Order: sequence, then C-alpha cells, then structure tokens
Amino acid sequence: MILFTGYTIPRHETDNMTMKETQHKHLWWQEGIIYQIYPRSFQDSDNDGIGDLPGIIQRLDYLQSLGITAIWLSPIFPSPMADFGYDISDYCGIHPLFGSMEDFDELLREVHERGMKLILDLVPNHTSSEHPWFLESKSSRTSPKRDWYIWKDAQPDGSAPNNWLAMFGGSAWEWDEETQQYYYHAFLKEQPDLNWRNPEVQEAMLNVMRFWLDKGVDGFRVDVMWHMIKDSQFRDNPVNPNYREHQATYERLIPAYSTDQPEVHDIVRSMRQVLDAYDERMMIGEIYLPIDKLMTYYGTDSKEAHLPFNFLLLSIDWDAGKLASEINQYEGALPAGGWPNWVLGNHDQPRITSRVGQSQARVAAMLLLTLRGTPTIYYGDEIGMRDVPIPPDEVQDPQGLNMPGLNLSRDPQRTPMQWNAGENAGFSTERPWLRLPDFYKRQNVEAQQEDEFGMLTLYSKLIRLRQQEPALHVGEYKPVVTKSPLLGYLRVSGDTRFLVLLNLSHKPCYFTPDHFTFEGTIALNTIPEREGTSVKDQVYLSGDEGMVIRLKNS
Ligand code: NOJ
Ligand code: MG
Repeated sequence: MILFTGYTIPRHETDNMTMKETQHKHLWWQEGIIYQIYPRSFQDSDNDGIGDLPGIIQRLDYLQSLGITAIWLSPIFPSPMADFGYDISDYCGIHPLFGSMEDFDELLREVHERGMKLILDLVPNHTSSEHPWFLESKSSRTSPKRDWYIWKDAQPDGSAPNNWLAMFGGSAWEWDEETQQYYYHAFLKEQPDLNWRNPEVQEAMLNVMRFWLDKGVDGFRVDVMWHMIKDSQFRDNPVNPNYREHQATYERLIPAYSTDQPEVHDIVRSMRQVLDAYDERMMIGEIYLPIDKLMTYYGTDSKEAHLPFNFLLLSIDWDAGKLASEINQYEGALPAGGWPNWVLGNHDQPRITSRVGQSQARVAAMLLLTLRGTPTIYYGDEIGMRDVPIPPDEVQDPQGLNMPGLNLSRDPQRTPMQWNAGENAGFSTERPWLRLPDFYKRQNVEAQQEDEFGMLTLYSKLIRLRQQEPALHVGEYKPVVTKSPLLGYLRVSGDTRFLVLLNLSHKPCYFTPDHFTFEGTIALNTIPEREGTSVKDQVYLSGDEGMVIRLKNS
C-alpha cells in the first residue's frame, strides 16, 4: 500500500483523468524514443573521414535493436559548412559529402521498413550567405528578393542600426560595401537571417517543408525557433546586469527585442498547419527559454510545436533538490494536452558524462528514460562517450574559433561514434574529421555489447522496459518526497506502478519514507546484481545507484 502526503503537482487533472489519458491512443512521437545523429560523425562509408547517409543505413540495425523508434538527423543539405551544415545553400538537396538524393530516399525507405521514423533538421531562421536567395537579395537595393533578408541603413555616424549581438561573437550586423547597408545575422555573418515578416519568405519555407513531407519524412526539428521574428522597431537590447567576463560576448545583452517576439507564434502556427495537412507528422522546436516562455510554444489549443525541446537537464546543477523542483515545475507548467519531453545532450552542449561523470551518467540515463515524456538520446551517450579534448590547432567549430579562451568549442561533443576497437573505431578507414579519444579501444559499441555492466546494456534494458510498460512510456508521473541526495518519483498506469529512486551522489543513502509503506521488486538497477531483489518499506542505495522498483499491488 502506498500513501501520498506532502507534495502534489499543481495540475488540474485527477487520477480519473489520468486513467483516461493513459488509455487514450498515443502517437509515435509520444510513445517512442528519439535518437539524434550528427551525420558527420556517425559512420563513414566512402572513406573520406566524414560520416554519410550510406553509413547511417549500415547502422540502422544497431539502432533498431537498441529499441530506438525515431531518428533525428542534424542538417544533411548543401552547405559551405561555415557552421557545419547550419548554413544551408539549398534546402531541397543533399550535400555530396553525405551522399545523393537517392541515398536519402533509400535511407528513408530503410528507416520505415524497420518501423522507425525519420526527423529532419529544418533551419528556417537563416540561410547560408551563399544561398541563391541571399546572392539575389544582396545584388542590389532594388532586387526582388531584397526584402527576403533584414537590411538596414547605417546610423548617421556609420555605426550599426542597433546594439544587437551575434551568438558567435561581435555585432549581429554586417556591412555590405556594394549596396551600402547592413544585414542582420544572429549567428555567423555567413548565416544571414531571413525576414519572416515577408509572406514570400514564409511561403518559400513552408514549401521546403512540403517537399520533404511529400517524400515521407515524419517530422522536423526546427532550429532556433524562438529567433525567427525580431522586434518590428529594432529597438536596442537592454544590458544584462548579470554578465560576467568569462561568458560569451552575446551574454552582455538580454535579447529582449531580437528573440521570442509575440509574432513568432503565428509563424509556428503556420508551420503546424502544413504538418497537419499530412498524417501524424510532427515538429520539435529548438528553444532555449525559461519554462513559462517555453510553454507558449505548444500554442493555445496545442496548435504550435508538438515538442518544444525541454533543455532543463542540460544546464541544471546535478542536485536532487534542484532536479525535483525543476521537474515538478515543468510538469506543472505544461498546458492541457502538452506532451513533455526530455534531453540529456545534443551537438551544442557538453556531453552528460563529461558534466556529471561516468557513474552519475548511468543515473542520468535512468532519469531520462523513466521520466514522463519523449526522451531524445544524443548519439554515443548510450556508450557513455565523453567530450574529447581537441588540440587548439585542430579546432573546427566557429563558436570555438571566434571566441578562443572561453572554452566554447562544440567539437569535443561531436567526435566520431566509437563502434569497435579497430582502426579509427570502425568509423572510417581514413583519418576522421575530428580525432577519437585514446581510450576508444576500451570504450566502444562492440566491447559494450559483451558487457553486462556496461552503459550500452543499461541503456538497452532501460529502453526495453520503458517500451514494454505503458506506465513508463505513457503513464502518469507523481513526485515522491525524498531527502537529498535522493530523487524519487512514481510512474503509474492502471494497476502498474513503478517507483524510481535515484541517488545523485557518490555516497550511500537510505530511502525511508515517513508517511507510507511499500513493497516491490527491483526491475532495473544501475548495479545489475541487485535486479530481482525484493524490497519493503525501506531501501538502501549505494553511491551512484539508481533503481526502478515494480511495486506490488496491495
Ligand atoms: C542551433 C544549432 O543547434 C547550432 O548547432 C547552430 O550553430 C545554430 N543553431 C545556428 O544555426
Ligand atoms: Mg564519408
């Protein structure tokens, strides 16, 4: 018998509603597990040291057997690669480095044949400065595409139109000598921002979506969704009083007028309408905003993004109290009908293993795969890949190169997948575009497939249990009051209940609830030897131990 007192989440639903919710049909992107592939680094098939689409096809069986149900590919389109594909020069093509359109069609077919889904990256905020649209726009002030980008006169003293800063350093305005105006770029000067207030731009990008949807693509991850519309008056951004010297220069200002403008929601809505004209297609929004703002991207009546990416776990201090309060806050803030999601890592952030260490990364995996909501796994995290130190003369990421000394390069988290102990970790026969860590011979997929105590086995078991149990993939989430360093919660569907207990420290601790009793069996544990053990009323956890307990029905 388990009784609850204390904290309950501030949601309007009752247990009855939850029952209904869990019985109601869930869609693939709610029940499933998304896996992010950084295509340059997954598998090289033509031995140029860079991953490609045929390489991904070779590894689909691996992903399928791991239990992945959807794959998100970072950009694979023609691009001068100033920002490694986030600077696109043709939205409806494939970069020859990655293969051909035939390769893409085959990849899509192979993914679908395995019952999986394919999500593409859509980068609508900016193009490459080599995109024909920009070349045309830049050609003269009277070009029919002049207004497709954001052009402004200099101030009387010749300076930039306002104080806005680029994410990758310096002013966000670039002077064009030819036409004597500035253009706006939120990222590199090679990535001019499109003018989303122009209906022709809107239509062109919605047509890009239709192009891929017609091919059968299942959804999009939309790059920097909150950047798409800027203040119509281009007011100066306010100074950030909390700026510290070790931060990127972009942090000097609060991007109050350059991002998250109310009109962005009309754009997201129109994208959603395009998707809704097809069956069961979905859209993830890349949005780095506080929870209350993030929630607005679900849209009123849930008619905007299906999954505004929840990046809470990427930056939070690894502390049980903070995690509990943020998770509960996120759960409580979700709008009616808004489906949660969780992310532990991506190509822009240090890897989880490097943030919390190898042992806690196992606990983090259990957290990711037992919380309520769609998890996204970053390639390589399932084998505990770490950020790889890249010597200064090998740094390639523009964020690292433009702001040296701030440790902002994203290369360390983008290194080749470690498949086996062979040459170049089985990634390529040639020298990979980014170096491998010295220890790849010990830490790789093949080695871990044999290791019942390895990270891969833990991921595999977690995925399997999650996918088998409605309580875990669609069930309700209920917080359990615990003392730090323990984090606890229940996942419930009908009569099935799992109690998840995670020790976020290296020291042992007890779970001895004051207000309720419980009895069950450990279904999964970061220490596999404890699986199958019965527990009753109190549990002792070792440092770095996490467990999923299947509770006995009273
Ligand atoms: C967000 C992407 O995730 C990041 O990798 C990229 O540099 C910027 N958007 C600019 O497109
Ligand atoms: Mg290649």
